Amino acid sequence: MAEVVIVGDREEAGELAAGAIRSLITRRRDAVLGLATGSTPLPVYAALARTLREDPLDVSAVRGFALDEYVGLPAGHPESYRAVITREVVEPLGLDPSLVHVPGDGSDSIETAGEDYERAIVAAGGIDLQILGIGSTGHIGFNEPGSSFASLTRIKTLTERTRQDNARFFDSLDEVPRHCLTQGLGTILRARHLVLLAFGEGKAEAIAAAVEGPLTASQPGSAIQLHPHVTVLIDEAAASRLQNADYYRYTWENRPSWQTL
Ligand code: GLP
Repeated sequence: MAEVVIVGDREEAGELAAGAIRSLITRRRDAVLGLATGSTPLPVYAALARTLREDPLDVSAVRGFALDEYVGLPAGHPESYRAVITREVVEPLGLDPSLVHVPGDGSDSIETAGEDYERAIVAAGGIDLQILGIGSTGHIGFNEPGSSFASLTRIKTLTERTRQDNARFFDSLDEVPRHCLTQGLGTILRARHLVLLAFGEGKAEAIAAAVEGPLTASQPGSAIQLHPHVTVLIDEAAASRLQNADYYRYTWENRPSWQTL
């Protein structure tokens, strides 16, 4: 079962996740991070940047793989996930940009981009820690409902709801791409540690379905139930539909002193 931690606010979640990433990099200087975009992981990157400023750590060998990327945006578009990852992660953390990959880059054609990305992840030795947000449709990465639990990096079509959710980053809905390249649920499940974050009432249903709902491709987030090491960091609002919230609180309050995330 996932370790569900109900926190006071997103800053607290950011601190906890940043602590786990810091301790990973301390153990393994060339750690491989799975990087999510969207607004949810921003407190993690901000907390990590802060700790690196206050207490520097060698991050020159840290590697990264973004979860997903839009297909069809003009090169260099500020809302491409390559641009977002550069702005929110690579620059503030001081990572080596040549070690941070986004689906599609370096591929000769869109048809081979998925396989190329899978090969690159395998060649890096796999992802140590994968940061995840969750969409209101229950998607993780851009694996919309119906995605196979065995899926690997490939092209997907975004649902209209996801396009509308993401329209806030663009000037108009028309500008939001209809296609993307995303790590598959199978790719995500191969990462050694999943850290899923969610904040706000709008994510409560998706979180309940992911953590407690039946295992179903109709709720892609429920794939996390197949993984042996998952940490779910959520605020009270995102936890509001969980049946067993009291048990998760009890478990966290009574965690053994030796237990880390
Ligand atoms: C996009 C991303 C997902 C992200 C989701 C939620 O669809 N591809 O990786 O989890 O948005 O976004 P937000 O965190 O902004 O709510």
